[in-house]
Amino acid sequence: MCGIVGVLGQHEVSPIILDALKRLEYRGYDSAGIATVNQGKLDRRRAVGKLINLSDTLVHQPLPGRSGIGHTRWATHGGPSVDNAHPHQAGRVAVVHNGIIENFRALREELAEQGAQFTSQTDTETIVQLASHYLDQGMAPVQAARATLKRLDGAFALAFLFEGEEDLIICARRGSPLCIGHGEDEMYLGSDAIALSELTDRITYLEEGDWAILTRNGVHVFDADDHQTARPMTRINAAQARVDKSGHRHFMAKEMAEQPGVLKAAMEVYSGVDHGGIDLPEGLDFAAADRLIMVACGTAHYACQVAKYWFEQFAGLPVELDIASEFRYRAPVLGQKNMALFVSQSGETADTLAALRHVRGHVAQVLAVVNVPTSSIAREADVVLPIHAGPEIGVASTKAFTAQLQVLALLALKAGFARGHLSEDAYRTRLEELRAAPGFVAQALDREDEIRRLTEHLARARDVLFLGRGVMYPLALEGALKLKEISYIHAEAYAAGELKHGPIALIDKDLPVIVFAPHDALFEKTVSNMQEVMARQGQVLLISDAKGLAEAGEVPFRLQMPTVPDLIAPIVYAVPAQLIAYHTALHRGTDVDQPRNLAKSVTVE
Ligand code: M6R
Repeated sequence: MCGIVGVLGQHEVSPIILDALKRLEYRGYDSAGIATVNQGKLDRRRAVGKLINLSDTLVHQPLPGRSGIGHTRWATHGGPSVDNAHPHQAGRVAVVHNGIIENFRALREELAEQGAQFTSQTDTETIVQLASHYLDQGMAPVQAARATLKRLDGAFALAFLFEGEEDLIICARRGSPLCIGHGEDEMYLGSDAIALSELTDRITYLEEGDWAILTRNGVHVFDADDHQTARPMTRINAAQARVDKSGHRHFMAKEMAEQPGVLKAAMEVYSGVDHGGIDLPEGLDFAAADRLIMVACGTAHYACQVAKYWFEQFAGLPVELDIASEFRYRAPVLGQKNMALFVSQSGETADTLAALRHVRGHVAQVLAVVNVPTSSIAREADVVLPIHAGPEIGVASTKAFTAQLQVLALLALKAGFARGHLSEDAYRTRLEELRAAPGFVAQALDREDEIRRLTEHLARARDVLFLGRGVMYPLALEGALKLKEISYIHAEAYAAGELKHGPIALIDKDLPVIVFAPHDALFEKTVSNMQEVMARQGQVLLISDAKGLAEAGEVPFRLQMPTVPDLIAPIVYAVPAQLIAYHTALHRGTDVDQPRNLAKSVTVE
């Protein structure tokens, strides 16, 4: 998604902004730009593609100035081009913007009728033309910005920079996050604290609807009704917010390797070793719930899909599961005894946030499982369960997925106990099994060399099929998603039993088929489906444990996983799903951390 940076500094800001934009690269973008005010004059540089192109442009055409705004753009309205890149400028004002202005067509027509000359296809340009129009009517910058904001519909974050104003940035948050950084006689602005982590550890998060006036002396924040308001300044853990690869080739590699540590640390938070039970935030009432509604997108949705099996099995709790972008458009039936659970790494996914807002007031409780505790979804939920995975920078979600599974498993066990569905013995046994997950995940990571070799033939495939049954079906979906997003190989996943109802027609000697099948209650059935594939020359890679591999007989390719309790199998088998995608992508030479067209956090609907 787009990234915003703003700096009112004591030195030249272009290099500072460029550096901060680099820390936002992980969000995904396809063009970038910077605007500054220097000796009163507004100027800008923009470039398509990676930041190196903007950096080259700045070498040839430097952009002096101690006040500036910068942006990485992920194209929505209008393709990636210099004209569509931000900052947009009209007359004496420049704007950077994340999100979507929903009424931009009407505004554009109105402004065009008044003579505005548009130079881009973006919705953003209407903001800057509108602000310029108000300035031309004689309004001062603050008035013009405020008048502009009042005309905009949609979800967005934005920042204005004005000609002749070297000590002023005006910014606003409506739907997309924005934070203010406090320096020594300097002030900063960023779409997240990671962007500002090398500049300051003192951060003020704007609340929904806020707008703010920044000068080098500080910030004045106003709420949606224009009342001046105080927002707390918090100290962030700069070491945690700082993003580096710690010697790994990619963030994705680092984040996969971090999984045992992340799982262990989060387990400590929710259930220390000397503690027999699970500590969850106050106010969770599973005993009274008659239904659990789970909503998420992408990988987080697959984590929910695994958890559905757990809530049904351990807690006898009926579960309804949906993709966030579908949920609120299908008139879901909500009840006052329902609990609604939203899962999101970023906590900013627009569809998930909109789904949360849709149920609020119509269900008993709104729960959120998030990685970013300061995110919008965390703020708007009744009960928040952080997964404590630390910043996830690689676009392909890895450690967040396993950490989401762990927290969801804890919730399901706690719900089972609270509802009298799990005996105390069973509850404690399952909890001990969960405690063993980090060690098994480490063992699965040790299979990396073998996986690298196995992916050599996958990298040449045009299509790949993933199969699994039970909790391994969502794992198959997750494996296919990972492979698609970073290797660009078409991949699909099916519940293994569904194969014969259509997709089996795809099987031939050129189709790699990856089967997730630990030796569990469904193993025999999955192996039968696998035999149907092999009978048609499908190139099967069976991922199973020692017993499963021994019983499966001859299989073209095999990968042995540690033997693990059923409960934690999805957490452990996530590792080969991730490593297969990672090494296939490496063989193909794709951009693992920033795959084409993708954004880390999708803050538009
Ligand atoms: O931040 P969220 O967990 O809400 O993001 C949801 C999806 O956009 C995300 O999981 C996406 O599918 C990942 N790129 C998958 O690797």
